[in-house]
Amino acid sequence: MGKAKKSDKVIYLCDGKKCCRYNDEVKQCFKELVKEAGLKKNVSIEKMKCQGMCKQAPVICIHKSECVGKVSTKDAKKLFEKHIA
Ligand code: FES
Repeated sequence: MGKAKKSDKVIYLCDGKKCCRYNDEVKQCFKELVKEAGLKKNVSIEKMKCQGMCKQAPVICIHKSECVGKVSTKDAKKLFEKHIA
């Protein structure tokens, strides 16, 4: 996977063919949440390969522990509160 950043938490956004068409809004939302929480140094947002769940695009994983599909910006907020904030 190449360069691993030293972050406490990582939010992975699937960047496969399908998800990359749907994940812009969610990506933006996570970026803002991280910024608002002042966690830019502790949380990084990375891309990951297709997870084989394309029907559920967009797919995201937080810290590789919980992978979820059909993520809306509302879900993004919930996930962020549960796992990051
Ligand atoms: S493109 Fe995201 S799961 Fe396949």
